[in-house]
Amino acid sequence: MRTIDEQGYHFEEWLTPEQIAKDVKEVAERMSADYKDKEPLFVVVLNGAFVFAADLIRALQDIRCEVTFIRVSSYYGMASTGRLEFIVPLQQVVDNRDVIIIEDIVDTGLTIHQLKAHMRGLGAKSIRVATMLFKPSKLEYDDAKPDYVGREVSEEFVVGYGLDFDGFVRNLDAIYKLKE
Ligand code: IMP
Repeated sequence: MRTIDEQGYHFEEWLTPEQIAKDVKEVAERMSADYKDKEPLFVVVLNGAFVFAADLIRALQDIRCEVTFIRVSSYYGMASTGRLEFIVPLQQVVDNRDVIIIEDIVDTGLTIHQLKAHMRGLGAKSIRVATMLFKPSKLEYDDAKPDYVGREVSEEFVVGYGLDFDGFVRNLDAIYKLKE
């Protein structure tokens, strides 16, 4: 099993690139069937979701779609401020569109809860959420429960495949769990 050490913390490989690819393929197959006759607009939540989004949208079958990006922050340091700050705002019209938000991980659900409210206010026809990872035991907002999940994870801190630790290790091809 591969391990990494980052800023004094020890991480062990949890999902290999092959396991991730299998999870992504399963999500893409379901999504391709669900959106067969639609032209969805993917909204990729930066920074973390760029790796998952790149793999997911290329695994879709026969889907005509558009992709745009948004960068938000509801956290200051480790604590949530409860307000969404748009660091890179939405630059695409979502009015009357079938929107699929792509996240790296849904934790408390605050980010998704607020993003959905924002998109509803802008007139989105439908809004679904795809995330590589979901921590169900941490969810605090019912409407943030994701529609497409690569893999559920318990409360542990995970990194790699887009997920960072203090800005670093997003480039790892596997997902690693923090070990005490
Ligand atoms: P939420 O708004 O509480 O659902 O938090 C979502 C965001 O928290 C994600 O997009 C990540 O940036 C960050 N996050 C939550 N858990 C983890 C983790 O285990 N590793 C890395 N980032 C995480």
